[in-house]
Amino acid sequence: MQTIKNKAKIRATTQRWKSEGEIVAFVPTMGNLHEGHLKLIDSARQHASKVVVSIFVNPTQFAAGEDIDNYPRTLEQDSTLLAERGADLLFAPDNGEVYDTTLDDQTVVEVPGLSTLLCGQTRPGHFVGVTTVVAKLFNIVQPDVAIFGEKDFQQLFLIKKMVIDLDYPIKIIGVETVREPSGLAMSSRNNYLSDQQRQQAALVYQRLQGMLASLQAGQQDFRKLEENAAKILERDGFSVDYVSIRRSKDLQEASAGDTQLVILTAARLGPARLIDNIKLELSGTINLS
Ligand code: PAF
Repeated sequence: MQTIKNKAKIRATTQRWKSEGEIVAFVPTMGNLHEGHLKLIDSARQHASKVVVSIFVNPTQFAAGEDIDNYPRTLEQDSTLLAERGADLLFAPDNGEVYDTTLDDQTVVEVPGLSTLLCGQTRPGHFVGVTTVVAKLFNIVQPDVAIFGEKDFQQLFLIKKMVIDLDYPIKIIGVETVREPSGLAMSSRNNYLSDQQRQQAALVYQRLQGMLASLQAGQQDFRKLEENAAKILERDGFSVDYVSIRRSKDLQEASAGDTQLVILTAARLGPARLIDNIKLELSGTINLS
């Protein structure tokens, strides 16, 4: 696997590949790779003949006071994992290569409205940072296909919308969340947790599954379900940003009768902010008991 830090070289390489008839898949990451990321590489391989991965801890998606300085940086280890998993090219730029202006002067890409919901409420500016860097990376790599994890459901949703709105000729593919045996969604931020907190963190997914079971049993009072779940998580030691049942097609608040749903949550446990979600489809029949 080749590692390149320069954007002109990346673009030249992928352009050459495409002119030779190769299909290029792209997996953007912030590194500190775990099995969840590696599953994205596997999916990329299924959709393309060349797999490009980026590792870039993007400063514009961290608000002041967030964990950018502590964010785990493990480039050497990541690069070994990527080579073993069969990636063809690693793009590992430094800040100046990606942002050649001061960040305050940077042109941004914003998906309006949806960027300020859910995680956007507690992390103002976060999604503008994400869509801006992903738009830039897409222009640098110029892939045919790009792969993202479904754990970051709102991020995936916004990127799909950005690609449609801005006419990027890129197919976006979401890959199912990879979980620890306890059910905890894999995340680089799980490394901030102690062993005991890691066990406790599995309660997030258990709570989502509890909500799923209630919805499938016919519970139609979505607000009550959200409130109860948040209360239980708080009682279990989490500081809850939100628990929300949304329509999966537009991320708006769901209400009785909506059937294509996603339950999303973000909750803090000690030093880590955990996010997770479950997508579900209810059958049209309403059980009023
Ligand atoms: O999901 C991530 O790791 C990041 O938000 C992404 C998509 C690589 C953009 O920095």
